[in-house]
Amino acid sequence: MENLRVPGPTPVPTEVLQAMARPMINHRGPEFAQILNEVTAKLKQLFQTKSDVFLLTGSGTGGLEAAIVNTLSPGDKVLSVTVGVFGERFASIAEQFGAEIIPLRFEWGKAADTDAIRQALQAEPKIKAVLITHNETSTGVTNDLASINSVVKEFDKLLLVDAISSLGSIDLPVDDWHCDVTVTGSQKGWMVPPGLVMVSVSQKAWQAYSTAKMPRFYWDFAKAKDYLERGQTPWTPALSIVFALSVSLEMMLEEGLPNIVARHARVAKVVRDGVKSLGLSLFADEKYASNTVTAVAASGGLDIKKMRKILREEHQVVLAGGQQSLDGKIFRIGHLGWVTEDDVKAVISALKVVLPQAGFRK
Ligand SMILES: Cc1ncc(COP(=O)(O)O)c(C=O)c1O
Repeated sequence: MENLRVPGPTPVPTEVLQAMARPMINHRGPEFAQILNEVTAKLKQLFQTKSDVFLLTGSGTGGLEAAIVNTLSPGDKVLSVTVGVFGERFASIAEQFGAEIIPLRFEWGKAADTDAIRQALQAEPKIKAVLITHNETSTGVTNDLASINSVVKEFDKLLLVDAISSLGSIDLPVDDWHCDVTVTGSQKGWMVPPGLVMVSVSQKAWQAYSTAKMPRFYWDFAKAKDYLERGQTPWTPALSIVFALSVSLEMMLEEGLPNIVARHARVAKVVRDGVKSLGLSLFADEKYASNTVTAVAASGGLDIKKMRKILREEHQVVLAGGQQSLDGKIFRIGHLGWVTEDDVKAVISALKVVLPQAGFRK
């Protein structure tokens, strides 16, 4: 089997794969209502929230759109804090729906600076919401949401969080950190295939919903809430992925969130130490290096394309390249979800063999 080490889709445990072989059921029947209610309750535990959590069918980007269109109106001023590709995408969605973006960009590889966010909020009192990526998958940086959220709270703004590649892997206590809408995707730390997006919606987000004027239909949170009260989703859900999630959540709760978070931290350290021991350097500021994805800078004549090809063809190790301006400049190792120290040690061993073949000289 391939050692799939991209930051999503992630490997799926056998019992979860088997759950998807289950025959279809009526998504408007009692059997599905029971599954949906159980899955939602388990998600709330892992989101560490008492707020509403909805299961929507779509990819992560759809969840980001949902966060925006349910809380904002055209013309609203939005502080967009970005440290990479996915932060920019979040801002583009808001802009497309007519929000006025106030960009606060940080150099790729660095984390967002809490004081700069404070200054931006002070400078423009009309800002309604702050958009932030908790874990920027394109650069391997985890923003310090523990401190950023308290500044956003101090200024009483809405906090919309892309936690697609962090929730369920890196600690993110949604209620304690005052996240108003938090978005994650099934293909990341949740150990199931792509197809579902899970979102939490705070009371404050519901207040924003009541005046938000952006157009919405498919992603309408009120429809999701209304149907959930009947044990349904407004539209036909990706049933097989829900079956899968029901099993993976069971596994996650059995392991326990603190243990999952600790395992991700351990595995990430093995990756970082391993990469450095090979003479490579990390792209991300190590203080903020992500525990779900490690970005490695190309150096010493390394041909990343060639390296990934040899790794894939001769070692069955699949790594990700860099996105947009980082294409050819970094490669990324995904280590989220169903992952152990041995999985990533195998990556480091394969890299040791392949790096010289791909032109790398220390
Ligand atoms: C942080 C982050 N945001 C957004 C996305 C987009 O999610 P999707 O590709 O599921 O639409 C991803 C996916 O890689 C991501 O890692």
